[in-house]
Amino acid sequence: MAYAKVIGGNKIEGEAVLQGSKNAALPMIAASVLCRGGVRIENCPDISDVRELLSVLSRTGAVCKLENHVLTIDASEAVPFSIDREQAKKTRGGVLFLGAFLGRFHEAWIAYPGGCVIGARPIDLHCAVLRKLHIALEETEEGVYGKGRPVGERIELPYPSVGATENAVLAAVCARGRTELFGAATEPEVSELCRFLNKAGAKIHGVGTNYLVIDGVAELHGATYRLTGDRIAAGTYMTAAAMTGGEVVLRETEGVCMDGILPVLRMAGTTIRQEKNLLVATGNDRVLAVPYIRTAPFPAFPTDMQSQVLALAAKADGDSVICETVFESRFAVVPELRKMGAEVLCDGQYAVVHGVRQLYGATVRATDLRGGAALLLAGLAAEGETFVYGDEYIARGYEDIYGLFRSLGADVVRVEES
Ligand code: EPZ
Repeated sequence: MAYAKVIGGNKIEGEAVLQGSKNAALPMIAASVLCRGGVRIENCPDISDVRELLSVLSRTGAVCKLENHVLTIDASEAVPFSIDREQAKKTRGGVLFLGAFLGRFHEAWIAYPGGCVIGARPIDLHCAVLRKLHIALEETEEGVYGKGRPVGERIELPYPSVGATENAVLAAVCARGRTELFGAATEPEVSELCRFLNKAGAKIHGVGTNYLVIDGVAELHGATYRLTGDRIAAGTYMTAAAMTGGEVVLRETEGVCMDGILPVLRMAGTTIRQEKNLLVATGNDRVLAVPYIRTAPFPAFPTDMQSQVLALAAKADGDSVICETVFESRFAVVPELRKMGAEVLCDGQYAVVHGVRQLYGATVRATDLRGGAALLLAGLAAEGETFVYGDEYIARGYEDIYGLFRSLGADVVRVEES
């Protein structure tokens, strides 16, 4: 059992290089199944979600290597295989092999990825779009079995699901004919996937909009792509500056879209400077309460920053209301923050946060990735020692977060319990 030991009170200040985007890397790993040639993904974050997905991908016979943030994959000789519950449960990104396997092999068997503490996370929309593409899809107790070559269609997504959009694109790029996807998700990670696929020979039009037109091609070739920085990791580190009254300078931020995130940090009293390849966040003496924050699909305030901003609001001067509209239960971190002195009331989608002057160190447990990040942030700002258990959740999405925070003045170490 490992945990993070944080001694709070230091200002988080200094320069750091921003990691590559986790949620752009994962769909690209699945997409590499479609490429009959070498794929090279640069600026790839070395995190456990990526490592897990690569271990699944290598079961197809694809040759994968991640070294110094360069990921090379050759899936030319890949063959389909079933992704069982154990593998599917480990990382959510595995569900994207559904579209990729159907696009390449015209067959796929994927166990349900299962829900997690933030919500049930069903895949009904994924199944609906694949059936629209003429895939014979059978849903069993265990998972989903699909067969047949995708045939292009007009598809309307009732909700801009990121994963369902990505699965639709992965199945459509080598489909027979044209696919029109109305109501597509427009998160930056979806656009990155489309840009990568177009570099590999796909014909996707309308990238970045909610109306994608995909003309199927016979097959995709290899491609080289450099991932942009991780906008959620950027927001997380900037929030650390806001919570401790420090100043964080992030480099390698070119192309990182911070829409939805920066306005909330500014309303909380953070001074923000954004240049071509630089992001600077300067905290002030007192965090300001943000009267109303609502998460929603891009370009609104992202759900993946909700827990971190909740921790920020916990030490604000006043009351903040947070409305979580994307996942049905993404307040699991609240009881843990209460152990640190936070005053938060939750009711369904809403959390009312009454800011307190000081948070105090405690022993807390993360049960999801972003909740874990929020607890680390609270520990950095708290008086005394905080022990954050469940650090395996944090490692899923943040590369060497303890080392990065130490380089910014934090007193934090990872402790392995014998
Ligand atoms: C992606 O998850 C991200 N994960 C999530 O980031 C992110 O929170 C989410 O998009 C929203 O932005 C990756 O990209 C790997 P959705 P995804 O499909 O694709 C419901 C993180 O911390 N829904 O847009 O699973 C679903 O239950 C992670 O990095 C259905 O009901 O998100 C949720 O309530 C957490 N049926 C909502 O839609 C479906 O078939 C949004 O889900 C699919 C989704």
